[in-house]
Amino acid sequence: SAAEKGGYDWFMVKEIHEQPQAIADTLLGRIGADGRLQLDEMRLSDGELREVDKIIVIACGTSYYAGMVAKYAIEHWTRIPCEVELASEFRYRDPILDHTTLVVTISQSGETMDTLMAIRYAREQRARVLSICNTNGSTIPRESDAVIYTHAGPEIAVASTKGFLAQVVACYLLALYFAQTKGVKYGDEIRAILDELDKIPAAVQTVLDRGEQVRKLASDLAGSRSIMFLGRHVGYPVALEGALKLKELAYLHAEGFAAGELKHGPIAVIEEGVPVFVVVPPKARDQLQEKILSNIQEVRARGARTIALVEEGDDSVVAYADEIIRLPKVPTLLQPLVATVPLQIFACEIATQLGHDVDQPRNLAKSVTVE
Ligand code: AGP
Repeated sequence: SAAEKGGYDWFMVKEIHEQPQAIADTLLGRIGADGRLQLDEMRLSDGELREVDKIIVIACGTSYYAGMVAKYAIEHWTRIPCEVELASEFRYRDPILDHTTLVVTISQSGETMDTLMAIRYAREQRARVLSICNTNGSTIPRESDAVIYTHAGPEIAVASTKGFLAQVVACYLLALYFAQTKGVKYGDEIRAILDELDKIPAAVQTVLDRGEQVRKLASDLAGSRSIMFLGRHVGYPVALEGALKLKELAYLHAEGFAAGELKHGPIAVIEEGVPVFVVVPPKARDQLQEKILSNIQEVRARGARTIALVEEGDDSVVAYADEIIRLPKVPTLLQPLVATVPLQIFACEIATQLGHDVDQPRNLAKSVTVE
């Protein structure tokens, strides 16, 4: 009913708008008054935690993209080697793991069969399993050694939105907690990042408040046959998620690429009028930014219509992009939390304009309980 949807036409739209709250609730109670992280639910003693010499993040779909973001954060802040793998691939490749390996699974529903089978396999190999999950008492947390709950609230729409942002936040908390316990050299950076995380709900609200620009863009581009997304570093999983949302909701052909790979093949598909979204790394990462600016020029020279997502106050891209979507200024590693939101709004808006049911897209299930 309309009441259940909080006055919105679709659960999807409601859930996109609940994201500031989902992030705030996932942070709630986890940062102590002393500025230190508290994650008692990790259920690993400091000694056990210091023993961990490898982290493998495992998930499916949108949750896998949260895992890709996690890898950048974990390796940067903790210096522990981290792999990310699709749950459906993991146990079939004879992975190397033992009791000093921490397997981190990410699942909104807690019922995804591929992920559950990966957990069972990992535990048989004596690895410890920590799950990031949004659903209390579901199968995945029950079968894991420990769980960090995301507090996004029930996600009804089949495609994940607020679940994803809450997962990304939980991954940062996990990485920062490891860094805090190991006492790595980034003490000041950790404190600074926790302060920045606190400001993220307001930053996401700012992106939502500017949604009209993206909805208008969706009307302009609703006739596109194919749409591309480019990103680098943590902007790469954002590009993949932007493309996935468009496939799931609008049934459009969409692809996300690491921008550096463009020249190794994908640039061949660029033709006149193809929309290309580009997640531009913050100005602070000038080397990455320089490279992505040349990617924008390369696709534009071949007729692409370029839409750049770029932080406020950064005008380096103005001369090259056909359209600019402004993002609040946040540290590079946190950029996915603000950069994903316009892409969710875009996919949702194109889909509703095409007359699709965005809450229950064809062929998809909310939790995939078969292998
Ligand atoms: C819909 O296509 C899928 N349910 C997808 O959104 C989802 O991300 C994937 O199946 C993983 O689900 P999980 O997070 O509940 O494990």
